[in-house]
Amino acid sequence: MTMSLETRLVVSSIALLATVCAVIATATTLLFHDFLTDRLDSQVTSAARRSTSAAAQRDDQPPQAREVSFLLSPGQAEGTFGARIRQGVVRRAAVLTGIATVRELPAPPSLAAVSRAPVTVNLGPLGDYRMAAARTPDGDVLVTGLPMTAVDSMLTRLVVVEAAVTLAGVVLTAVVGTLLVRRAVRPLGRLAATASRVSELPLATGDVVRLARVPEVDTDPCTEVGQVGGALNRMLGHVETALAVRHESETRLRRFIADASHELRTPLASIVGYAELTRRSGEWHGPQTEHALGRIRSEAGRMTTLVADLLLLARLDAGRPLERVELDLSPIVVNAVSDAHAAAPRHRWVISLPDRPALVLGDADRLHQVVTNLLANARTHTPPGTTVTATVRLGERVCVEVADDGPGIPGHVLPHVFGRFARGDGSRSRLAGGSGLGLAIVSAVTAAHDGWVEVRSEPGNTVFTLSLPPGRTRK
Ligand SMILES: Nc1ncnc2c1ncn2[C@@H]1O[C@H](COP(=O)(O)OP(=O)(O)O)[C@@H](O)[C@H]1O
Ligand SMILES: [Mg+2]
Repeated sequence: MTMSLETRLVVSSIALLATVCAVIATATTLLFHDFLTDRLDSQVTSAARRSTSAAAQRDDQPPQAREVSFLLSPGQAEGTFGARIRQGVVRRAAVLTGIATVRELPAPPSLAAVSRAPVTVNLGPLGDYRMAAARTPDGDVLVTGLPMTAVDSMLTRLVVVEAAVTLAGVVLTAVVGTLLVRRAVRPLGRLAATASRVSELPLATGDVVRLARVPEVDTDPCTEVGQVGGALNRMLGHVETALAVRHESETRLRRFIADASHELRTPLASIVGYAELTRRSGEWHGPQTEHALGRIRSEAGRMTTLVADLLLLARLDAGRPLERVELDLSPIVVNAVSDAHAAAPRHRWVISLPDRPALVLGDADRLHQVVTNLLANARTHTPPGTTVTATVRLGERVCVEVADDGPGIPGHVLPHVFGRFARGDGSRSRLAGGSGLGLAIVSAVTAAHDGWVEVRSEPGNTVFTLSLPPGRTRK
């Protein structure tokens, strides 16, 4: 069973206190018992001495009283027991009950064992007695005893008082201890609250946040909790700095990529332009030059696309908002499919559209690019003859589905197919010359539209599904 720190501290202090009290009480009781018995023993010894000297003098009593007349000698206390043993037989036993009155007792059986040193003898209803024996000049043995009731009741009272004090101590410790421990533990609770509040923050996302701190009162280095609190605050400070630094460097990198892509566009446009101009001028017409100029143009075109993709991704990463206008997805899909059909006439192209407009809020160019990228993949990563089906579906959300019955996405690419520069290394995709950014752009643009994209792929059936929130007005 796990107990809270608070309960554990209180319970252990109570257990400790109770143990100490029990040890002290036992020791005190034993010592007190010995002390009282010693005192009683010396009284018994004096009483025995009085008995012998009285037995030597007193003989004016009636014969039957004479046997225990020593009980009546001055100084004997009420309750004193006396017995005379002659030749091993108890002649008479009695207890002094008042001034000069004795009560006869039946002879107790265990008197023979009584010696000069006091011993305890039980007298049945009269309780325990301390008794000592003494011999008279005429050879009789006189046994004198005093009751132990006083000793017993003293000890009982002592035990009762000790128990009461222990109980009071335990109750006091429980109440005061709980209050004190609770007060001492409270700062720990505040520390835990701060730590758990910070742990709930989404620190993995790049945004800079001001982290919660432990309150000033809980950072006093003179206390253990304060040391933890101070250390926690310093750690939070470091984490905050690290996050800020990371965010800063990410921002810088993003801006660098954006700037670089932006700057690359102009020289690329010049390269394309001059290559085209040279080709058209027809000044030096050799088939080899013609080919080289064509290559320059197409590679520069590819690079232009790559740079544009990089720039778009950098802007989406920076959270640059997209245009948000209400538009119908169906014509976008129709246009994209007809472009794809023109590019790959040997594929079979199928379109399935709903009978109502598929309205979404979004950026028409970017959504066109998304559908184009999906169709381009279905075209370039599949052999001719493949059937590609583009479906627009209306439901709670607006879905666009691009399916093909080609060979499917290679197993090692599928898990991170939406990652940047993730691509299958088959000869087909090399031929197709994709940059590996196509699906990354699909994913980022869809996310910027509060949507998501999913993929399912097996040989013969590859399906990409875009899911977008519906536009506000739907007819
Ligand atoms: N319809 C598809 N059929 C088979 N493989 C695909 C399909 N779509 C995507 N892939 C695989 O996913 C990879 C990543 O696609 P993408 O991000 O568009 O990059 P790229 O097309 O430039 O190679 C591709 O290289 C290809 O291996
Ligand atoms: Mg692609």
